[in-house]
Amino acid sequence: MKIRSTILVIIFVIFSRLTIIGGEGMWIPMLLQQMNEKEMQEMGMKITAEDIYSINKSSLKDAILLFGRGCTSEIISKDGLLLTNHHCGFGNIQKHSTVEHDYLTDGFWAMNRGEELPNPGLTATLLIEMRDVTDSILTAVDENMSMKDRQSVIKANIKRVTDNFEKGSKYKASVKPFFQGNAYYMMITEVFKDIRLVGAPPSNIGKFGGDTDNWMWPRHTGDFSLFRIYVNKEGNPAEYSEDNVPYQPKFYFPISLDGVEEGDFTFVFGYPARTNEYLPSYAIEMITEVGNPDKIELRETRLDIFKKYSNKDPEVRIKYATKDARVANYWKKMIGESGGVKRMNGIEAKQKYEDEFTHWASLSGNDQYAGLMPEFKKLYGELTPIKVAAHYMMEAGMAIEIVKFASTYAKLVELSKDKTKSVDEINKEIEKLKKQNIAFFKDYYKPIDEEVMTSLLRIYDNSLTTEFKPDFFNTIHNKYNYDYKAYTQYVFAKSMFDKEGRLSSLLDNYKSKSYKKIERDPAYIMAMEMGKLFKEKFRGNMTSINNSIDSLQRIYLKAQMEMKPDNHFYPDANFTLRVTYGNVNGYSPKDAVYYKHFTTLDGIMEKEDPDIYDYVVTDRLRELYETKDYGQYADKDGSLHVGFAASNHTTGGNSGSPVLNANGELVGVNFDRCWEGTMSDLMYDPNVCRNISIDIRYFLFIVDKYAGAGYLLDEMKLVSGE
Ligand code: ARG
Ligand code: GLU
Repeated sequence: MKIRSTILVIIFVIFSRLTIIGGEGMWIPMLLQQMNEKEMQEMGMKITAEDIYSINKSSLKDAILLFGRGCTSEIISKDGLLLTNHHCGFGNIQKHSTVEHDYLTDGFWAMNRGEELPNPGLTATLLIEMRDVTDSILTAVDENMSMKDRQSVIKANIKRVTDNFEKGSKYKASVKPFFQGNAYYMMITEVFKDIRLVGAPPSNIGKFGGDTDNWMWPRHTGDFSLFRIYVNKEGNPAEYSEDNVPYQPKFYFPISLDGVEEGDFTFVFGYPARTNEYLPSYAIEMITEVGNPDKIELRETRLDIFKKYSNKDPEVRIKYATKDARVANYWKKMIGESGGVKRMNGIEAKQKYEDEFTHWASLSGNDQYAGLMPEFKKLYGELTPIKVAAHYMMEAGMAIEIVKFASTYAKLVELSKDKTKSVDEINKEIEKLKKQNIAFFKDYYKPIDEEVMTSLLRIYDNSLTTEFKPDFFNTIHNKYNYDYKAYTQYVFAKSMFDKEGRLSSLLDNYKSKSYKKIERDPAYIMAMEMGKLFKEKFRGNMTSINNSIDSLQRIYLKAQMEMKPDNHFYPDANFTLRVTYGNVNGYSPKDAVYYKHFTTLDGIMEKEDPDIYDYVVTDRLRELYETKDYGQYADKDGSLHVGFAASNHTTGGNSGSPVLNANGELVGVNFDRCWEGTMSDLMYDPNVCRNISIDIRYFLFIVDKYAGAGYLLDEMKLVSGE
């Protein structure tokens, strides 16, 4: 009897990991009332689902915007001040920066509205309403259709539904699949186009800790930047114009001065990009035991080479700063993800769950359900080698900068060979490439690229069998006798893609036959051989296998919902507005170690090191620390809190999302996850999955006390319950 109940408990734990507990779940705003309101209120929330999302009255959702194409932002003043992360505003802050006005390094503060800086091309997108359009989208779809037919019917239905809506509306409409294609929702949105930069802290605050601290808790980064939405005189979105006026939102977030305590209820409202919580064990194995380790090795090789040269020469460090950050960000994420799945025994847990599922399916009498697991196994068996080959192509072949750069000349070659194309079209492409050349050579350092090429080609060659490798490896074997360095030297000696002068002169004097010079270039040839291999051998198979997998995933999730009718399932993230909720909480990353839930300015001073770029502290911040001039931003404990950790289930795209307390007041801005919990994109573990936020009082402190831009606080609403 006793043994039995233990087994039951174990099974329950395994099950619940795969369904919902704690902070897990990215929920649909329009379904909150029926799915989550009760639980949220039990956890401490004092407002209602209707306060969060409503189409009848103003609600919290009226203050959340997709920032650009990859981040979240929120409105925090009656005059349309928009708050997001520093790393989300980074590109735009960089665009305004010159040697004389280096806003990235020194920060930027508009001291009046006239000084705010426009950012052509930057948009902020507001969700007006979401609607369930599943029935319209699945009209004329029948379960026995081929995946291809199904997709084309769905595509046509989506077009009909969105066209119909847009005809009679000033808003935009788009439709996305949810629950692996078991449901379709329409998003009705308004896109703002005049978004101006208002303020950004210096990088040694906004990026404090840099890539060293990235994905890590305890964290001390002031990762925020401030923008403002402008609209035309009628209050509608418009391109930049001097006559535009600040946007008057339907709702903006009150900002709480009370801080958070361990155990407090919080929720995050924003735009998570992508999760895969319902994959079978075969997929988890492919991602975490094959794909991630390969990519990690390749990226590590590249990062080591970047580091070697950057340490020797500060100019090289600046040139490679953005590239390094980009490569390092997901390198580190993948290490965390694979490690996390291993720590959770994630593959075994999924396998056990699948055994249970198969047992249930065999009793269900549904043959389709009963056949799912063997079918998944077969498809992932076929997909894995192709995926591996594609990873090497992207992360090794295309990681050679001149090869990737050369591939961008393919369009010019095509246009030049096509007799129907006009000189105008060709000239337009040439102008585009000229601009691109300037950007490329500004941040290019040949010794790094040469060493990357030699090292990565060796790994690429040793990791795959012949059929999965591009033709240039034959040359390396036969003509260069496996001497990767000699082959690299040959490519660099002959190619023009590392020689700015030769490339400009080609474009400046471009003639109808000049494309032949590009076609003969060895870096271009490498790029084309990879393209050919991809097109001929991988692309078709990959698409058809992925289509079959998508179709199985749809059926698998539907079956699980039948198996567990009482569970609340949540759809994977797909870059639509979601709510996730949890508690402020520390965690134990390993045996005997416990991390508290908040960090303070004291921690910044502990990390300070004037000799390490990531840990430089400015005199001004040190002075404020020494005089303890924290004003109303100090915590009850007298210190200045900088960041906090909580168990909200977030992912990429949630950067910049508002973190809200039980009253729906702003207490933080989300910007990262802790390393031990990065497997939450595949499976969530409430014990270690934590989102990392800047404490909103640190943001206010930097604006007011550090930057002296306290006038901005006049348009905000600061609240305190004490
Ligand atoms: N890890 C965070 C995210 O995925 C922050 C990235 C930017 N910061 C950095 N140090 N590279 O986007
Ligand atoms: N920094 C991420 C972003 O840019 C958020 C971190 C995460 O992946 O959770 O969206």
